[in-house]
Amino acid sequence: MKIKLHNKAISEISSDIEIVLLDETAYKLHQDLKTLQVAGFEASDDNICLLHESKKLFVGLKSYSSKNLRSSLTAAVKTLKKTNYKSAKINAVSHKNIAAIVEGVILGGYSFNEYKSSIKKNKFAQVNISSNNLDFIKLQKNFNDALITAKATNFTRDLVNTTPQDLNPKIFAQIAHDLAKENNFTCNILDEADLENESMNAMLAVGRASINKSHLIHVSYKPENPKYVVSLVGKGLTYDSGGLSLKPATSMVTMKLDKSGGCTVLGILKAASELELDIEIHGFIGAVENMIGGDAYKPDDILTSRSGTTIEVRNTDAEGRLVLADVLSYAQEKVDSDYLFDFATLTGACMVALGQYTTGVMGHSNGLKHIISKAAKDSGELIGTLPFNEHLEKLLKSEIADISNVASKPYGGAITAALFLDKFIKDEYKNKWLHFDIAGSAYTEVPWDCNSYGGTGAGVRLMLKFLTTISEEN
Ligand code: BES
Ligand code: ZN
Ligand code: ZN
Repeated sequence: MKIKLHNKAISEISSDIEIVLLDETAYKLHQDLKTLQVAGFEASDDNICLLHESKKLFVGLKSYSSKNLRSSLTAAVKTLKKTNYKSAKINAVSHKNIAAIVEGVILGGYSFNEYKSSIKKNKFAQVNISSNNLDFIKLQKNFNDALITAKATNFTRDLVNTTPQDLNPKIFAQIAHDLAKENNFTCNILDEADLENESMNAMLAVGRASINKSHLIHVSYKPENPKYVVSLVGKGLTYDSGGLSLKPATSMVTMKLDKSGGCTVLGILKAASELELDIEIHGFIGAVENMIGGDAYKPDDILTSRSGTTIEVRNTDAEGRLVLADVLSYAQEKVDSDYLFDFATLTGACMVALGQYTTGVMGHSNGLKHIISKAAKDSGELIGTLPFNEHLEKLLKSEIADISNVASKPYGGAITAALFLDKFIKDEYKNKWLHFDIAGSAYTEVPWDCNSYGGTGAGVRLMLKFLTTISEEN
């Protein structure tokens, strides 16, 4: 799907059809009111009416807020993809919510067809936006930034949607390497011999039964004189069968999504480098496959993590935290950063707590959680914070090692998983770290907002909003 911003009145743009957004007030005043009423149109969210004769697609919305615009444009593009029209035009509404139009078109118009042997090619391929007498320079900047962000989100979605036979840890490393080359940042890959040298035994144990060897991916974007240094850690389980604590058959389906955290980190690096943000960003991805086999790690094993903390394995399906323990410890030691964020499809419990659409955010700093909540709201992503407490922390006690990889009680599983990670956060990082559990938000089997079936790219828009905000601080 192409999208173009024109410094012209809408009447001067030639397109097959015009998208007209109508809230209640604009509807009542509209010249086509009678025809629209006969057609049963209402000025409510996502209501659509296509009038072929006047070459107009009317879309209802409660207000011209970013949220409503994004979902209205998603509905419009989905409708237009079913027609024979090739292009549409629309008026920009304001400088601020031009991003929502771009997201509706680029994110709402996304579909993943890589594995279909024959796809009906859509004729509809272009949306033209009229500047509508708004300050073009300002509009253009917001338009360009939103386009880079939306394309990076779709890049992340494509990776998440790719199957485990086509995206194993080695291929993940190759993709990161190619992206770094294309976008002029650096990429360092650690193979299993390197991981052994780094004593990353928890991460290595998880991947041991797989024929696909584990890799640690370190990508860095380093502008001159950066304002801040940010480290991003991603869970990159290219498949999670559960290991010997095998998942039931129905829960295993979709577990290609378990690499979403890593894919999000790559999407953020892609956009940040294209936006030329004034921030040094390091991405660390633990790319591993959790399988069964004669050499599999077992419940009862005790692993000595990179930091020296010993871990009693009581469930091999709680593998993400083992990989993250080592990658977080590596990231903190290798780079001195101002912020440390990890993204992981870590627990089913997070979905129980917050529902499928919301990312769970956990950490010690209320101030940082507050800033992230604002960035989430401005970006259109949903987050909910979950609180730590010392009573839940006690549930991770092990009789035989320093810590158990699962809590002794099943309640508050998203929080106990984050408290496990906390054991690997150094004191000087406690207030700089937040954990994002994207188990529910990274993937969807029902379309919602501007998300269609599959990977959503959760975390990309949110983190880019945060990074842009801190890069613009005085
Ligand atoms: N990758 C899963 C979490 C997950 C579940 C993500 C569903 C997305 C959808 C993770 O590795 C896992 O299996 N966690 C266990 C932890 C449990 C054994 C303590 C879980 O959530 O059941
Ligand atoms: Zn698991
Ligand atoms: Zn997992």
